Amino acid sequence: MLNASQIVKEIQSKYKIIGRTEELKKIILARSVDKNLIIEGQVGTGKTRIAKAISSFYDTDFARIDCSEETLPHNLVGYFDPPLVISKGYQEDSYIYGPLASSMLKGGCLFINEINRMPESTQNSLLTALDEGILEIPKLKTIKAHSKFFTIATQNPAAHVGVTVIGEALKDRFIWIKLDFQPSEEEVLIIKQEANLDNLDGEKIAQLSQQIIHHSRNNRSIQRGSSIRGAIDLAQLISKTEEINSSKNWVNTAIMALYNKVELEDGVTSSKEEIIADIVLSALNKSDFQ
Ligand SMILES: Nc1ncnc2c1ncn2[C@@H]1O[C@H](COP(=O)(O)OP(=O)(O)O)[C@@H](O)[C@H]1O
Ligand SMILES: [Mg+2]
Repeated sequence: MLNASQIVKEIQSKYKIIGRTEELKKIILARSVDKNLIIEGQVGTGKTRIAKAISSFYDTDFARIDCSEETLPHNLVGYFDPPLVISKGYQEDSYIYGPLASSMLKGGCLFINEINRMPESTQNSLLTALDEGILEIPKLKTIKAHSKFFTIATQNPAAHVGVTVIGEALKDRFIWIKLDFQPSEEEVLIIKQEANLDNLDGEKIAQLSQQIIHHSRNNRSIQRGSSIRGAIDLAQLISKTEEINSSKNWVNTAIMALYNKVELEDGVTSSKEEIIADIVLSALNKSDFQ
């Protein structure tokens, strides 16, 4: 039997996860006592990446649902296909299993991405499944969950704009794992890996891209700074331009990469382009670029 540290190392190397050793240990601990997990963190903290890795590590055959405000109970549970019901009646062959029903039957992992976007009525279909391992499908059968059935969900923190809070009853069924931003050195490694920066300039590009998003998170005019995706996008864009030493190129690509990823504070009079340009120029000044 592998111990927890060995399992963490295996997950990190198999799924190319950089760092997150403590968080992965907590996840493995929770899984060792068969708990359902909710992974919470800001955009880009690696929730989906880690949840996918865990579900695939414990069960290669996982079912995934990406939630939105329009996710209805039938998207989760399943539904009778009307034409099939007409020809065959309410029976097994007419039923299209949703991710919840199929993972309960197979004993797989149900991966619920962005659970906080799921409407309350849909959340309710999960309750008895998680609690008692039972799912009632009217006119068909009652599913008893396979002993290996489990759930991993991800969610953005409640304070995040445009996020609804998941219900108390549902929250009560999950073990909570928090993902904070990673240390700068780890972010640089992630950027290098995800942007495929293996040339000589890769290290410099990754470092500068990381510094730029880091400054966007501490800038007084910015309410929400850039996720790591901003740095990955920026690094990919800049490394494809003719002159990676041109500050004009850095400003232009940074605006392309970060514009949608930062939110300004209320009442800020400068434009987003100006603020991003300032951040880029000051990061360039402090770097050994040029
Ligand atoms: N620890 C990590 N190791 C490797 N890649 C990571 C890590 N954290 C985030 N990433 C990468 O950063 C990007 C955003 O991660 P993602 O899991 O989609 O974030 P979230 O679901 O929290 O918004 C993806 O390209 C992902 O692969
Ligand atoms: Mg995600």
